[in-house]
Amino acid sequence: MCGIIAYTGARQAQPLLLEGLHRLEYRGYDSSGLATLAGSELHVRKRAGRIQDLAHYLRDHPARGVTGISHTRWATHGPANDRNAHPHLSSDQRIAVVHNGVIENYAPLKRQLESDGVVFHSDTDTEIIAQLIARHLDINSTAPEDFIEAVSRTLALLKGTYGLAVLSRRHPGLVLGARLGSPLVVGIGDGENFLASDAGALVGQTARVVYLQDHQLCVLTAKDWHILDSECTRVEAAVHTIDWGPGDADKGAFEHYMLKEIYEQPEALENALRGRLDDADATAHFGGLNLDTQQLRQVDRIILTACGTSYHAALVGEYLFEEFARMPVEVEYASEFRYRNPPIDRNTIVIAITQSGETADTLAALRESKRKGHPTLALCNVVGSSIAREADGGVYLHAGPEIGVASTKAFTNQVTVLAMLALYFGRMRHLSSLQGTRMIRELRAIPDAVRRALSCHDAVRRIAERYSHVANFLYMGRQYLYPVALEGALKLKEISYIHAEGYPAAEMKHGPIALVDEDTPSVFLLPRGAIFDKVMSNLEEVKARGGPVIAVAHEGHEEVTDRADEVICVPDVPDYLQPLVTVVPLQLLAYHIALLRGCDVDKPRNLAKSVTVE
Ligand code: AGP
Repeated sequence: MCGIIAYTGARQAQPLLLEGLHRLEYRGYDSSGLATLAGSELHVRKRAGRIQDLAHYLRDHPARGVTGISHTRWATHGPANDRNAHPHLSSDQRIAVVHNGVIENYAPLKRQLESDGVVFHSDTDTEIIAQLIARHLDINSTAPEDFIEAVSRTLALLKGTYGLAVLSRRHPGLVLGARLGSPLVVGIGDGENFLASDAGALVGQTARVVYLQDHQLCVLTAKDWHILDSECTRVEAAVHTIDWGPGDADKGAFEHYMLKEIYEQPEALENALRGRLDDADATAHFGGLNLDTQQLRQVDRIILTACGTSYHAALVGEYLFEEFARMPVEVEYASEFRYRNPPIDRNTIVIAITQSGETADTLAALRESKRKGHPTLALCNVVGSSIAREADGGVYLHAGPEIGVASTKAFTNQVTVLAMLALYFGRMRHLSSLQGTRMIRELRAIPDAVRRALSCHDAVRRIAERYSHVANFLYMGRQYLYPVALEGALKLKEISYIHAEGYPAAEMKHGPIALVDEDTPSVFLLPRGAIFDKVMSNLEEVKARGGPVIAVAHEGHEEVTDRADEVICVPDVPDYLQPLVTVVPLQLLAYHIALLRGCDVDKPRNLAKSVTVE
């Protein structure tokens, strides 16, 4: 949940580190800091607060040098203050470390060093890493091998997770990195090299990256880079080229990343669909499932596991697989699934759904499933991320970098990929070619439908102005729209800090309706088809008790206007695709209410974009 960026080359490190930190700020923003090496002089600057606060401080206290490491923090151990901000140094100020992860055995290690007279200067677990490296590194050594050996010996003592970068003042120009459980990427430049928590931080600097694997070390100088295994033996590593351009990771003309990513949804959906719909066989095709048709035919149960918004996409996936593939599906919170031990037979496939590919609970659930011999797939947005690499196969979302902490385009791309997978599995079983052809036609029309759904923006902005002051919101949906009710509630609560709950609409009568009063708006997502009338009855029940009602209905249901206080119209699409158009006004509603309440839309309090600790 923290962000790391490091540099070694011929340019001054400070501006490059700051730019990288800004791109990583969504990973955590309690405090930030950097350390640079100018010859053997170590310059350390760190501040609580946002990266902007660090940047202001650096104006009067610049950090010189062409080698540096930096960090933006989401606090796990120790409050967010200057003292606990990274980098952390050894007591003799020789070693500087930035770290993403949790060192679970830091307390006994710290006690042992303190009993030997070592003085600690922070409440963090990270400091133990710097202190141990210094302890293993002869004070007079300038040999890179000694520095590498000291880091390797330190890592062997640690339990927990880390993605880290280290500097030693007696080894100018050298940056060491190591990874266990927290992502780390080497960026390969021309006469310069980078280290970052994810490739998005390197956009604009280099497109050539190497994804570090668990238990690997990397050794970077301006002119060279290499990867070592836990025995400090050189290993080969594949160099990937990321296809994001410099503009992808910027806000462009938008005020916030979240709004940009809401508006990118039509294009992101086109990218998700591109090359995967097969008209000839009326099915979908994926290049990376890595499971042969025979294996997939044997699958007789699906488990979808995820967290947060990705969990809500999984809930839509449950309806899709049941309807189109006629397969039993279970949806599991990854944080629960990883510790449960349900009796599941081998023909159950486990599909992990994740935007970042680094969510600790989802990664653990995937590993647990693999340990029990299940075939696994990952639906993921970040190429080369841990979950993408560790699953047997998978499908990339192709949504482009999603920087805003509140997930938007990843959700709609996840639902679309799940619809294509349901088509793929269905056509392997009983779905007819005519049904497949119809689904392909309906899927192809989705990007434009979402584009048209964005036209509700002004209406939603006005509704936000009327309700931005309330303390509670209820979201009601049924069938395919029940997960969207949950997602709308999550969007609102995570960026506006208003308490919001999503429910199956018919559940109102079993308790939640007691919450209804004139200060508690209810958002009703009105489905197509037979249950429309049922949900309208639920809506009336709320109206009868004085609760304000905001209805999201597709074109053609004008009668809703007479019965709801507010109506937001969305394009009419098949019911199984309604989540894709209905979620758009809910994303915009959360965005505008959060703005009106003065909240930081892209970096809401207490949250981070990628939850890489459990
Ligand atoms: C969604 O808006 C939240 N930021 C959060 O719930 C997120 O969906 C969750 O942490 C899962 O992240 P992932 O998709 O990267 O695994």
